[in-house]
Amino acid sequence: MKLGFIGLGKMGDAILSGIITKKVFSPEDIYYYDPVKEVSGIHRMKDEGSLYEAVDIVILAIKPQVFPEVISLLQASKHRPILVSIAGGIDLSYLEKHFPHQKIVRVMPNLAATIGQSVSVYAKNSHVTSRDESIITSIFSSIGTLHLIKEEWMDGVLALNGSFPAYLYRFIEGMVKRAVADGFPEAFAKQLILETTLGSALFAMQDERSFTELIRDICSPKGITLEGIKVLEEANIDFLQAKVYDATKTRSMEIRREIK
Ligand SMILES: NC(=O)c1ccc[n+]([C@@H]2O[C@H](COP(=O)([O-])OP(=O)(O)OC[C@H]3O[C@@H](n4cnc5c(N)ncnc54)[C@H](OP(=O)(O)O)[C@@H]3O)[C@@H](O)[C@H]2O)c1
Repeated sequence: MKLGFIGLGKMGDAILSGIITKKVFSPEDIYYYDPVKEVSGIHRMKDEGSLYEAVDIVILAIKPQVFPEVISLLQASKHRPILVSIAGGIDLSYLEKHFPHQKIVRVMPNLAATIGQSVSVYAKNSHVTSRDESIITSIFSSIGTLHLIKEEWMDGVLALNGSFPAYLYRFIEGMVKRAVADGFPEAFAKQLILETTLGSALFAMQDERSFTELIRDICSPKGITLEGIKVLEEANIDFLQAKVYDATKTRSMEIRREIK
């Protein structure tokens, strides 16, 4: 089975490293086309069309804005590789319109793919078989975890995986700033809070209690953490977070409409 990449930028490169490191495909079965990037050890094709004809699975790792142009170069082909799009805003129905009766998978990885820690989600159309799905699973498991979701969740999910690292970093940034103003060296404050974030995530994954219960456990009555939690509640953090979620989802829906 031959795998091809159209576009080998940050994300294409991360997936390529994952599959080579985890030996999901051997380099002689990997093909790519990218206008500028040159990678040794795998096959470079002269254009999008020749790449498409040569492989069984195509990963479209290009920006959403480039899709109309690239699709116009591929859609006349009689060849029917499995199409995998990782582009934000490109939905299954858009691809199905241009590639009817073809196997199509939409995957949304996140930034941590570059260190093999992506939390990726995917949706598929009805032509994708369980065998196809297991190949897709092995490709994207090489860069982290992969979860099947309903396609209608693809906009909202960005608030949980794609965009969430930025929201978390924003919270961390504010805490680090305040600690620095209080006399902590910045690097030390950053290290402590990142280690705490990692430990807290691992702990919560192993503990079946709800977040309310976990928080209650840390906040003893008249204790220290409770005072910080009160500040968050007074600032109506639930309202703020719902707005962040909705803004993320709305913008994703807008981009989808702009491309159509
Ligand atoms: N980065 C992320 O964290 C992330 C997360 C989830 C999903 N994604 C999605 O992944 C896709 C790729 O993102 P990225 O961050 O990897 O972007 P990127 O670094 O800009 O990579 C895109 C690559 O495609 C190349 N390219 C442009 N036109 C092409 C064409 N006609 N045929 C073949 N290759 C072409 C670009 O070359 P030039 O630079 O010369 O144009 C570039 O090397 C996007 O759709 C994005 O929505 C990214």
